[in-house]
Parts: sequence; C-alpha cells; structure tokens
Amino acid sequence: MAGNDDQAHPWWRRGVVYQIYPRSFQDSDGDGVGDLAGIERRLDYVAALGVDAIWLSPVFPSPMADFGYDVADYCAIDPLFGDLAAFDRLLAAAHARGLRLLLDFVPNHSSDRHPWFLESRSSRDNPKRDWYIWRDPAPDGGPPNNWISDFGGSAWEWDERTGQYYLHAFLPQQPDLNWRNPALKAAMLDVLRFWLDRGVDGFRIDVLWHIVKAQDLPDNPPNPHWTPARTERDRLIQAHSTDQPEAHALSAEFRALTDEYGARTGRERVLIGEIFLPNDRHARWYGTPERPQVHLPFNFQLIESEWNAATLRQVIADYLAMLPAHGWPNWVLGSHDAPRIAARVGEAQARVAMMLLLTLRGTPTLYQGDELAIGAVPIPPHRIRDPQHFRQPHLNIGRDRSRTPMPWDASPHAGFSSAEPWLPLNPDWPTRNVAAQERDPGSMLALTRALLALRRAEPALSVGGMELVDGPAGVLAYEREHNGRRLRMMLNLTSAPVVAEWRGTPLLSTRAGTPEAGWLRADEGVILA
Ligand code: GLC
Repeated sequence: MAGNDDQAHPWWRRGVVYQIYPRSFQDSDGDGVGDLAGIERRLDYVAALGVDAIWLSPVFPSPMADFGYDVADYCAIDPLFGDLAAFDRLLAAAHARGLRLLLDFVPNHSSDRHPWFLESRSSRDNPKRDWYIWRDPAPDGGPPNNWISDFGGSAWEWDERTGQYYLHAFLPQQPDLNWRNPALKAAMLDVLRFWLDRGVDGFRIDVLWHIVKAQDLPDNPPNPHWTPARTERDRLIQAHSTDQPEAHALSAEFRALTDEYGARTGRERVLIGEIFLPNDRHARWYGTPERPQVHLPFNFQLIESEWNAATLRQVIADYLAMLPAHGWPNWVLGSHDAPRIAARVGEAQARVAMMLLLTLRGTPTLYQGDELAIGAVPIPPHRIRDPQHFRQPHLNIGRDRSRTPMPWDASPHAGFSSAEPWLPLNPDWPTRNVAAQERDPGSMLALTRALLALRRAEPALSVGGMELVDGPAGVLAYEREHNGRRLRMMLNLTSAPVVAEWRGTPLLSTRAGTPEAGWLRADEGVILA
C-alpha cells in the first residue's frame, strides 16, 4: 500500500535535496545578486531536474559579512533577496510543483548588527547582556581562554565600552548566542515557529554541533597533529567549544517542535544538521528512537575523502556500520563551503561521483551547479569576497570559487543577471551552461537527470538495502536491493580501463555508448540490472 510505504519511507528518505545558494542562482532585478523572484522563475528547471526538496542558504536581513550567515533579523527577508511576500510566493510555487522547501536556521550566532546584540553590548546590565557570551579578560588582560575562531584568529573580541570580551566562533561580526539563557532560547524557538507557520518543510541547521559551549569555558587542548598547512582552528581540539551534551538536548527540542508541527498539520517537517565530527560522535546527533534529534546529520565524507576506490569503500562501510538502527544515512558531494567536485577530481570522475551520490543508500544533497560539472573557477584577487579567505589568505581556502553564479545560457552574463554578477562566472560559461547541456544528450546535466529519473523509477536505488561487493582494484562495486529487485553499481574510480567481469543489463553508464562486457572503460560507472 502506498500509504504504508510512505510511512516506512517518508520523502526525506526517498528524496533528493538540492541546495540553492540564493546569491548565485538567478537575479531578477539587475543588481548582479540572485534573489527569491529569480529562484521562483527557475523552479521549473529544479522540478524537471527530478529533485524533491530545495534547501535555501540564508535569505534573512544581513550585513553580509559572511554572506547571510550573519543574520540581523531571523524573521524577515533581506531586501536584496525580496520580501516576505516574495518568499510566500516562492514557497507556494515550490509546493505547487511538489517541491519541499527547507530554510537555513543559523542558531550559533547572529550578526553583530542584530538588535539583540546591539542591546547586549550597550551595557553590562542590559537584560539581553546574557543572550551572548561575555567574559572578563584573563588576568593578563588577554582573551578569557585560548579558543580559536573557525575562520582563524582568537574567538574573542574586545569590547571597549563595556570592558569585556564576547565570543565568536566565526567572524567578530558573528557573536555567538548564549543558548543557556532561557529567554534567548525561547526567542529562537519562536523563530522556528514563525517559519513553520508560514509552511516551510524544515530546516538545515547551521553549525549545529557548535551551539552550546562547556559551562566554564575551559581552554581547548592542543592538537598534536596540527601542521602549518592546516587551518589555525585545527591547532586546538574543540573539546569544550563544540559537541556538548546540552547541544544534543537542544537538538532533541528542535525535533520535538518540528514533529509537533508535523503531527498537527499532517505534513512532516525535516531537520538536517550541519555536523562535522568523527563517526562515533556523529551518530549521536540522530538521538534515540524515544528522543530523536535531527533526521539527517549531514555526512560530508565524500567531500573529505581521498578519491579512490579503496578509501571510499572503507569510508562507506564504516559510515553505514556506525549508523544507529533508526538512523537514515545521507551523503553530500558539494556545498557553498567546499571545493567543486569537478575541480577536485576532473569532469570524467565528477560524472562517476554523481552516479555514486545518487545510488548510495541515503538521502543525497546535490549542490547547484554540480549538475553542470562546473569546475575550477579562478577568482581574480580584486574579486575575492569570502571573509574566510581574508582571515587566512595563505591557505587558499576561499569559498568564492564554489559560489559563482549559475550559467543558464550563452546570453550576456549567462542569463544569470542583466548586470555584472557579484562573483565571476565559470570561465567556460559560453559552452558550460544549462541551455547548452539541455541540447547535449552526453552532458553532465543529461546524466544527472537520467540518474535522478532512474532513482525515482527504481525504489532499490532510494530505499533499498545496500551491500558492498568485491570488485577489481580501482573499482567500487555495490548492490542495492528492494523487494527482490537487485541492481549493481560498478564504478571505475581510475582514468584507465579496468578488466571487470560483469553480468546483467546496463541501465546507465557515465560514458557515451554501450558498456562492453568484460571491462569498464576509463572513468566509467555503470548501473546493472
Ligand atoms: C556554516 C556555513 C558557512 C558559514 C558558517 C558560519 O559552516 O555553511 O557558510 O560561514 O557556518 O555560519
């Protein structure tokens, strides 16, 4: 019965999430920055891709010190992107196409221009002082402890007027909120209600594992494995600044609230948590069956792993093995923070990676532009915008190169905007764009659509069980099975042909032409029935 199947496999298990970075999807008003009306205009493209849900990076009022991850008002839309009416139109248009819409909830920090912080920093006895994390200097006048910002430098900023430091895990313009304060917590839960009442289908929760700090803020221990090639943040193990038990308790409260909405409205709402932790600690963000936390703690291991069959096989096996029985897996291959997959492994392997992402057991998150295999985008120094780059320029970890505008067609500015876009386009945009790839049956876009269509047609690929099987060196092989239908994936992770016995009917290959029995071509992934 469909109803039963729906309960056993709700949309967020069967479906695919598509991340839209609103600044770079589609501009509608000619300011070179994408906006909500632009996204609405492109919804048919998103629906035709065959994804199930959209996650929007932040669109709230923001001074844009961290491009929206510095929120100055949690319950409004930045004029750059539109207004609440434009948001409501987008949400209705998404729902009309059967697409769910998830917002980005940024609970760890607000903007330093948020009225809450303006009040908090106005005096030591302001009622909102304790909504943020203020401390006296250390005896030597320096910062209260040794914590390092994730973007580099001390995590503490001195406030001259009130003679204390405030904590910021990211930029000084992103003061950390104090979730131990009941009034702050109540205000933030109201933020979730505000958007749930408007009808959103859930949230991606920004840096969820950061949101509570150890009570008395002890120094973090040094990381013995740190080298200067790593970020400054990695000098320390974030033992006391992240992954605290109280953050898990909050995560369970977020879940209870969203579940309550789901039960009341008959429409399940979903929580995705941004979590960067080793497997054993990662698993805890699912919570327990009695007290669940987030539905999907983001799993970034495809982004972080070396790109070869042996490593990926191990990573996949370990990840699936550590999941609690009630925990549903998920996979992320790209984001506005990570280097583009095609830049990292090349276009031929990016096609294999897309097949992997869309055939592994677990909910995939697909990042805008990866369906076009956008690769390396050089950002000339005068066009660099990412604050993370400016805090540690020597590391070359700027994120602008993954945030460049969607190239829609070969018209000026790639159909993204009538003006010069805020970041440069991919240099090959005249040929690497949506319109060109729609005309080319061999394009990455065509492959992505075919994979998404096959995934929809074959429940084995979405909700089926999964088993890793032995394959020749360089080949990652696994099977998915549902109700007796068994499919085998064989992915050649190398750029040389590999002798590989395979049986069955090829349903799809990452390469043009028909796969030939007995071997896999260079960079070839196949799905066999
Ligand atoms: C998350 C976001 C990233 C942002 C950071 C601080 O990691 O994905 O873009 O800079 O949080 O909010």
